[in-house]
Amino acid sequence: MIKSMRIAGVLALAAFFVAPQALAAGGAVHLEPANLEQDNAASLRRGARNFMNYCSGCHSAKYVRFNTIGKALDLSEEQLIDNLMFNAEKTFETIQAAMPSEDAAVWYGKAPPDLSLMARAKGADYVYNFLKGFYIAEGSPTGVDNIVLSGTSMPHVLWELQGYQTAIFETHENEDGSVKKTFANFEQLSAGSMDAGAYDEFVRDTVNFLAYIAEPIRSDRRKLGVWVLMFLIFFYILAAQLKKAIWKDVK
Ligand code: HEC
Repeated sequence: MIKSMRIAGVLALAAFFVAPQALAAGGAVHLEPANLEQDNAASLRRGARNFMNYCSGCHSAKYVRFNTIGKALDLSEEQLIDNLMFNAEKTFETIQAAMPSEDAAVWYGKAPPDLSLMARAKGADYVYNFLKGFYIAEGSPTGVDNIVLSGTSMPHVLWELQGYQTAIFETHENEDGSVKKTFANFEQLSAGSMDAGAYDEFVRDTVNFLAYIAEPIRSDRRKLGVWVLMFLIFFYILAAQLKKAIWKDVK
C-alpha cells in the first residue's frame, strides 16, 4: 500500500515536471534545447536589443518596465534610453508594441500575443524552435509556415538574418492506410546575413531575454533558495541533537 502510494507520488511529481514541455511540443516535433545562460548579462543585453529591434514592432511586453530591465542588465539610464527605449519616454513605462494590437489583428489575421510571459507559458525551448522554424510554404499568406506552430500568421520577421529554408518531411503510411507526415530536416534555400551558428546565438539571446522578463526575480529566488536550504540543514541537525538529548533517558 505504502509502496504503491510512493510510486504514485513519484509519477505525479514526474508528470508535473514533464507536462509543460510535453504540452509545448505539441506532440509532433522534437524540440532542440535552447541552452540558455540565464545569468549571462551580456547575452540578456543583446537579447533586449534584439527584442526591441525585431519584435516590439508587433509584440508588447506590457508587464515589464524599462527600469526593471535596466537594473538586471546593468544598464545606466542613458544606456536604457539610447539603446532600448524607441517608443517610450519614461523609464517606468512598460514595453508597448509600436503597432496597436487591433490593427495588427486586421493585418495578420491574429493579434500578436503579449510576450511578457510567453517563455514561461510555452517554454524557452519552444520559443527557440519557433524562431528557427519558419520555412517556405506555398499558399500561405505570409509565404512561410512554421514547424512548431503550423498555420501561424506570424511572418518570418528574421528572414534577412536567417535567409529562407524549406522543410523536408517524411511520409509514413499507417496501418489503416492514412498518411502521416513527420518533419525530417531543413534545407537552406537562400543565405541570410548570418550563418547558422550566428543565427542560433541571435535567437538564443532573444529567448534568454524573454525567459528573463517572464520571471525577473528568478536569480534572486535562487540566491534565497540557497539560504533556505542551509537553514533547513542547520535546523535538521539541531532537531536531531535535541531529540537525542530529550530521549536519552527513555529506553
Ligand atoms: C510583423 C509582426 C510581428 C513581428 C515583428 C513579430 N511577431 Fe511574433 N507573432 C506575430 C503574430 C501575428 C503572432 C500570432 C501568430 C499565431 O498565433 O499564429 C505572433 C506570435 C508569436 C509567438 C507565439 C507563438 C505561439 O505558439 O503562439 C511568439 C513566441 C512570437 N510571436 C515571438 C516573436 C519574437 C521573439 C519576435 C521578434 C524576433 C516576433 N515574434 C516578431 C507577429 C509578429
